[in-house]
This record gives sequence, C-alpha cells and structure tokens, in this order.
Amino acid sequence: MAAKRGIGSAPVHGRRVLVRVDFNVPQGPNGEVADDRRIVEALPTLNHLRAAGARAILLSHLGRPGGHRDPRFSLRPVAHRLSALLGQPVPVADDIVGMKALELAARLENGQFLLLENLRFHPGEEANDPAFAAQLAHLGELFIEDAFGTVHRAHASTVGIPKRLPSFAGLLVEREVRELSRLLERPERPYAALVGGAKVADKLPLLRSFFGRVDTLLIGGALAFPFLAARGGSLGVSPVDPALAGDVTEFFREAKESAVEVVLPTDLVVTRAGHEEPEVYPVDGLPPDASAFDIGPATRARFLERLAPSRTVFWNGPLGRAEDPRFRAGTRDVLSGLASVPGYHVAAGGDSARILNDLGVAGAFRFVSTGGGAALEFVQGLELPGLAVLPDA
Ligand code: ADP
Ligand code: 3PG
Ligand code: MG
Repeated sequence: MAAKRGIGSAPVHGRRVLVRVDFNVPQGPNGEVADDRRIVEALPTLNHLRAAGARAILLSHLGRPGGHRDPRFSLRPVAHRLSALLGQPVPVADDIVGMKALELAARLENGQFLLLENLRFHPGEEANDPAFAAQLAHLGELFIEDAFGTVHRAHASTVGIPKRLPSFAGLLVEREVRELSRLLERPERPYAALVGGAKVADKLPLLRSFFGRVDTLLIGGALAFPFLAARGGSLGVSPVDPALAGDVTEFFREAKESAVEVVLPTDLVVTRAGHEEPEVYPVDGLPPDASAFDIGPATRARFLERLAPSRTVFWNGPLGRAEDPRFRAGTRDVLSGLASVPGYHVAAGGDSARILNDLGVAGAFRFVSTGGGAALEFVQGLELPGLAVLPDA
C-alpha cells in the first residue's frame, strides 16, 4: 500500500500533539504489565516527539471494559512502566475529556507527556461518537497514528480524530506498513504461509486470502482438524466443527484451482484418559478417546522440509497448545528450524508474538508485528480504516 505522510513532516515543536498508541498489553493477575513489547515499540515515536519539543498527549485503550470505568483496565500500570522506560514522569488524566484533562493538556511543556485514561471507559470511543471525537481532537493541534494494532477498528480515536486534525503516521505504523507490504507486493518466491491456532471460522478468510499469492500453505494447530477430517482422518475426540464441512470442501476446491500446495499434519501428539504421557499417532489412526494437542515429529520434519526452499515465510498461530510444555515441541522445533532458513520471515498474531518469546525462537523472524487482528487483516489485503483515513505521503 502507498506510504502514509509520516511524523518526519509533522510540525510538532511546541505543539500539543495527540498520539494514538496501542498500549493494550497483556496484564498480570493484579493488572500489572505482563509484557511491555507494545510500550517499547512506541518509544521511537515518543523519543522523536520529545527531542522535537512536542507536548504529547497519549491515547490508548486497554482490554474491553465496554464503555464504562473499570479499575481492572486502568492504564495507570502502563503509565508507570512508560515513565520508567522514558526516564520521566507520565501523568494520567482520569477524566479523559473533562476539565481536568483540558487543564493538564494546557499545562504541558515542550518535551512532556500526558496519558489519558483508557479510552474505552467512555462509550463514545468504540461507537465513534462524533461529539466524543470532537472533544478528543480539541485537546490537541495535530494527530499522530502509531497504534498499528488498532488500525482495523473504526473508533473515535482511530478515525474520528484524524478526520478533524492534520494527521501523520508514527514511526511504528510506518515500519509495520513497510514490512507487511513486502508480503503483498512482489514477495520473493517461493513464498510459504504457516498458519496454526485454534479458531477455524476466524482463520478461514486468512487461509483463503493466500490462494494465488503463496506457493505453499502449511496448516497446523487445532486449525488443521477440520481439513484432516475432510480428508478422511479419524481424530478421536479432537474438536471438529461439523458446521464448517461446506467451507472446507470449498477451500480444497479453491486450493486446487489456484495450484497452491496445501500441507497438513501427518501425525499428532494426543492425550487419552488414563494415559499419563502424551502419545503420537498418525492422523488416520487416532484411538477413539484421543484428543490432539500438537503436531507430531514426522509432521515437524515434513513442515521444515517444505519451508527449507522458501524465500518468504509468513507465520501466524501456534502449531499446538504451546502454552503447555507438553505440547510446545511442534511450534518450537519448526520455528527454531526456520531460523536457519534464509529469507524474509514475518510473524503476526497476538498469541503468536507472545509465544515466540516464551519459546526463545524470535530469532527466526526478520519482523514480528505488534498487530493481532490488524496484521492479519493487513496481510489479507483488506482496507484498514485507521490507515485509510491518513493522508498519503
Ligand atoms: P493468534 O492470536 O496469534 O492469531 P490464535 O489465537 O489463532 O493465535 O491461536 C492461539 C491459540 O491456539 C493458543 O492459545 C494455542 O494454545 C491454541 N492451539 C493451537 N493448537 C491447538 C491444539 N491442537 N489444541 C488446543 N489448542 C491449540
Ligand atoms: C489488539 O490487541 O488486537 C488491539 O489492541 C485491538 O484490541 P480489540 O481487539 O479489543 O479491538
Ligand atoms: Mg489469539
């Protein structure tokens, strides 16, 4: 997609600059920041603004509080972590768009930051309410969009503000667009997509978007079950949604037409009642009481063999229940093998990015998107409202 007008051309010195960031981070049991990657990835833009003498007002959501104040989703722990990373205090405006927020914004000095409390405490955010968007816009003079993870949402902060203020892409958004565009525009071939995860209905559009675009499509995780079942596999009690049978038939028909090679697991790691240790079975021979949670060793080797000649690889979705040490070998072995395959490798997905670090295989990727749904929509070539609204460079 065309590059967006970037922060480099924004006249920010001495101005009140609204910055949409995606601080929707994983939280610990007491609301603490469990993974600060999205905060860290916003730092280049925030450091740029500080160095340029901007007065930055940061806007984010956290979780899905549903339009009312819920202390479990307060951004205060995020402000705390951000202060430590920036080495300067970041006060929080609790009232979001009230008198207090206006006062705090007006009192900002060059190089200072203010964080508004969770935008989703206000019902106007997700409703893209014009009055709420106008109130937010009133707090600043310019708008920087740096919340790549949220550009697939048409909310007050992502489309309402940029319709009202001169708007620019932040450094993270610029980088995400540049990197992910490489998958859409002339990727080096062969191009392979490796997709796992659990929610088949959610991932079908992603899988189908690869027809005509990739050379090889490898499917793992629980996502593979309905495809295996359609090919006659007996999967024991592993979840297979019968409502998807029609879609799966259509999927194989389209795959054949587009000449994409679809690679499915040949063996699976299963558990059975009364059996302590997980066992491995071929996909056409699971015992009736078996439930599958990972791809087996033969599948891992086959996946790597198919990935080896690729020069572009996109990965989304764990190949098994990777949070559980008993079922992480499939994802870990395939991704650590991928690390020694040369080429351009991109990872995307909320759970996927997190698991990469836990498994210590982030080195397999040239780029790991901060987007979950946003990145998956981007690589499908869909229009993202929060990007569409920004002027081109
Ligand atoms: P992402 O958020 O990166 O797009 P998904 O949400 O699609 O990824 O999938 C992540 C989840 O899928 C993980 O929590 C993982 O445990 C689960 N999963 C993958 N394979 C299996 C499986 N065979 N059985 C149970 N859960 C699985
Ligand atoms: C994400 O984590 O995908 C973004 O922050 C968007 O969050 P949402 O799915 O609750 O809109
Ligand atoms: Mg997920």
